[in-house]
Amino acid sequence: MTILVTGGLGYIGSHTVVELLNSGFDVVIVDDLSNSEKFILNNIEEVAGKKPVFYPFDLRRKELLNQVFDAHKIDGCINFAAYKAVGESQEKPLDYYENNLFSLINILQEFKRRNISNFIFSSSCTVYGQADEMPITEDTPLKTPESSYGKTKQMGEEILKDFATAYQKRVSLLRYFNPIGAHPSAKLGELPIGIPNNLVPFVTQTAAGLRKELSIWGNDYPTPDGTAVRDYIYVVDLAKAHVAALKKLIASEDETVIDVFNLGTGTGSSVLEVVQAYEKANNVSVPYKICDRRQGDITIAYANADRAEQQLGWKADTTLEEALRTTWKWQKYLESRKY
Ligand code: UFG
Repeated sequence: MTILVTGGLGYIGSHTVVELLNSGFDVVIVDDLSNSEKFILNNIEEVAGKKPVFYPFDLRRKELLNQVFDAHKIDGCINFAAYKAVGESQEKPLDYYENNLFSLINILQEFKRRNISNFIFSSSCTVYGQADEMPITEDTPLKTPESSYGKTKQMGEEILKDFATAYQKRVSLLRYFNPIGAHPSAKLGELPIGIPNNLVPFVTQTAAGLRKELSIWGNDYPTPDGTAVRDYIYVVDLAKAHVAALKKLIASEDETVIDVFNLGTGTGSSVLEVVQAYEKANNVSVPYKICDRRQGDITIAYANADRAEQQLGWKADTTLEEALRTTWKWQKYLESRKY
């Protein structure tokens, strides 16, 4: 079976491509390299022992997408291609709506025209906003996200629900909590562009001496140590969940399926706990200072991932420290490449 993976050279995409290849799927990647690098393609081949087909273009180019569907018999899609910087989305909302939603709709048009089912969408726990109760289940009420990025995720989910219902398709909406870590081979990981916004990449660059100190955004939250709490999920565990979700769709006897899964560990960790775990896992020091809260941040978010365990037979079982160890190995690899 051949799976189209958009954004397949990106952070979560590249790890998922490896897991798909390991599970016997053929993979066709479309990635415009706007937030990824070509060498990741070679690294995927080194890790998986197989090379996916690769097309470098922007999914808004309908005619090129059409040619890919003509050239390959596509049986399903995992759609990672999207802009993802929360702050940037506030400055460039139209770019976010256009890129994230037009590209999604273009693929769905091909699916409709060619009668293809099995679509997996990268959603985010951002659709819950600050939930009133922890842990967050899939039935926790959604709130309108503050950022345009978050809104593209919520709108994407709505588009897919309508798509599945109107055209009898199988879709799976995967709500990621906070993905971290790198491939154990240290050949795949998150590529930093500019100053990292996310916690673990910033901690990594601080430990490596590229940044003077980490700013911890607030220690006056109503949490045990005052810093904000998130559910950090190891990227390889997350990648495996995609394969499990895809297999479930393929095996389903129902024509119309709308699956929704929280993908997290079920455990919350505070910013300070992450810093301490990083130092311990890698025997490094991470200097930090406490600053004011970051605008738009929520206090606490962690998943109840029971549904994924029950229905997919999947569970995130890598510990925070193990995941953080792979991040450091990946940093050393990037340094060796003078990235
Ligand atoms: N943090 C710091 N200092 C930093 C970076 C982050 O203290 O330099 C803190 C944040 O304030 C937050 C925690 O670390 O409390 C995690 O921050 P991240 O930016 O790593 O992750 P977020 O939870 O803010 O954002 C993530 C995804 C988004 C998604 C959002 C949904 O990166 O794509 O969850 O809530 F929209």
